[in-house]
Amino acid sequence: MCGIVGFTGTGEAAPVLLDGLKKLEYRGYDSAGIAVMNDSGINVSKVTGRIAGLCEKTDNGAKTPGTSGIGHTRWATHGAPTEENAHPHLSNDGKFAIVHNGIIENFSSLREELKSRGYVFESETDTEVIVHLIEMYYKGNVREALVKTTNRLRGSYALGVICTDEPGKIFAVRESSPLILGVGVGDNYFASDVTALVAYTRNAVYMEDGEYAELTNDTVKVYDCTGQELEKEVSRITWDVQAAEKGGYEHFMLKEIMEQPAALKATIEPRVRDGKIVFDELKDLPDVLKNIRKIVITACGSAYYAGCAGKYALESLGRIPVETELASELRYNNPLIDEHTLLIVISQSGETADTIAAMKESKSRGAHVLAIVNVVGSTIAKLADHTIYTWAGPEIAVATTKGYTTQLSVLYMLSIWFAQTLGTKDVDTGYYVNLLKSLPRLIQQSIDMNPSVSGLARKYHSNRSLFFIGRNTDYAVALEGALKMKEISYLHAESYAAGELKHGTIALIEEHQPVIAVCCNERLIEKTLSNIIEVKARGAKVLALTISGNKKIVPVADDLLFIPPVDELFSAAVEIVPLQLLAYYVAKENGCDIDKPKNLAKSVTVE
Ligand code: F6R
Repeated sequence: MCGIVGFTGTGEAAPVLLDGLKKLEYRGYDSAGIAVMNDSGINVSKVTGRIAGLCEKTDNGAKTPGTSGIGHTRWATHGAPTEENAHPHLSNDGKFAIVHNGIIENFSSLREELKSRGYVFESETDTEVIVHLIEMYYKGNVREALVKTTNRLRGSYALGVICTDEPGKIFAVRESSPLILGVGVGDNYFASDVTALVAYTRNAVYMEDGEYAELTNDTVKVYDCTGQELEKEVSRITWDVQAAEKGGYEHFMLKEIMEQPAALKATIEPRVRDGKIVFDELKDLPDVLKNIRKIVITACGSAYYAGCAGKYALESLGRIPVETELASELRYNNPLIDEHTLLIVISQSGETADTIAAMKESKSRGAHVLAIVNVVGSTIAKLADHTIYTWAGPEIAVATTKGYTTQLSVLYMLSIWFAQTLGTKDVDTGYYVNLLKSLPRLIQQSIDMNPSVSGLARKYHSNRSLFFIGRNTDYAVALEGALKMKEISYLHAESYAAGELKHGTIALIEEHQPVIAVCCNERLIEKTLSNIIEVKARGAKVLALTISGNKKIVPVADDLLFIPPVDELFSAAVEIVPLQLLAYYVAKENGCDIDKPKNLAKSVTVE
């Protein structure tokens, strides 16, 4: 939700902190701040709004000299996005400054306790209790004070700390919130995400929960809570700076839409060998499968919708019952999950709080967990019994695009893998492997076939409300298409199973009401067509997304988007692309902040 960054080195800290915050801004962007330490103490600078404002206020860091410091970009949870609530927060004695990503669940009782001990609060945040606790427990050793402080905290936190008694040192702690150390030459770093590090170093240390780090310009040390120093592996970040930059596109979202053919190739190709799907990650899963009676897919938002679309392929090819459950609901449902359940968890960030909670609840009931994750080393990837990485590269735009389609491609691969492993009767796995391999090309065609999408956006952008309809996999795509439209263009967009309209919702269809009809499933074209005719009869304006060469829809729809013909089981990954583009261009017409939509954050680490 928020982003934190830390630097200690031989050069100036502020420009590095500001640059890191720019890279992390997608994680939260309602206020920001840095704290830089030099011989005269800690200098804090904060703004409401974007990092650009902080750069201006500090004259790109020139006004905050010093060689070590910490920074934060915020997505408000406790307290409004004001300067007082922006991080870093200072201790009353001015010795400590901290930045925090996460939530402290027991902050109000701690706040009362600290107030009764005389500590004065400057903000409404949950974070401020942490800095006062550190001051209270500090007896000359920062790490000891941090251990005592974190023993009092319930919740999730990645913390960055500086202390005037330890010039040139930065401290970091991780519990249920991502934190990565960057190991440089003469400079060291920490950040919530590797995107803030790649411009400076490709050597990363992934911190685990309950670990404490101390960094100077030439040392990186990690400890456990007993003070035992740990041997940590240094991993190589495999992608470069360009991957985290816009590369000539106006927005990250457009770049990431266009990257989908390449992203799916990266996901699929290494896992296809000799006409078969091979998951090196799933070596002992075949044995586990002998005891599995059902699959439950759980996730949030678009990742959940990927699960809804993937369910059709998993059931058809694997012939195992598949249920889909929103992660935020699953944990409170007393779910029928046990050791005979394979839980498939889907998450781009690997840090979504609801998904982690659903996963823990299911594990406690005995489920075997398989995670589909993009961010390497993330919490979900670590907690799962098996993890399949989507290898989509960094996804910076808040609205997911290549994250979603690569998740779908993994679900398609899994469905073939289940058919291979379980020997499902009458499934020609070779046919589906070829279909899978053709997806990058089909997605490229689906981009190329719709040059008119920006023109359509001009026609539809001023409508306040849109309906998305479809059947089966087309319905799953309608769900995701409507979410894309809502989150970046702020239009009301409602998705319905096409056959369900007449059970109530059709009452809302009136003259000029736009209906986006997803009508690509050849088996069901006639059925959806009849629903299109129903809404047309009530005055609706229909924009149909269909397969090229579909002569039945062309005369009925007012406007058309096309995809190449593709087997319904794997079609969602191709169908969604024109709807992503439509949402993008509608948002652009409406002047919205496409990569950073209001009220949202890339990784939702609160319940
Ligand atoms: C929508 C979007 C969100 C995420 C959801 C889950 O464009 O990005 O709906 O899909 O918050 O996030 P992850 O996949 O990181 O668990």
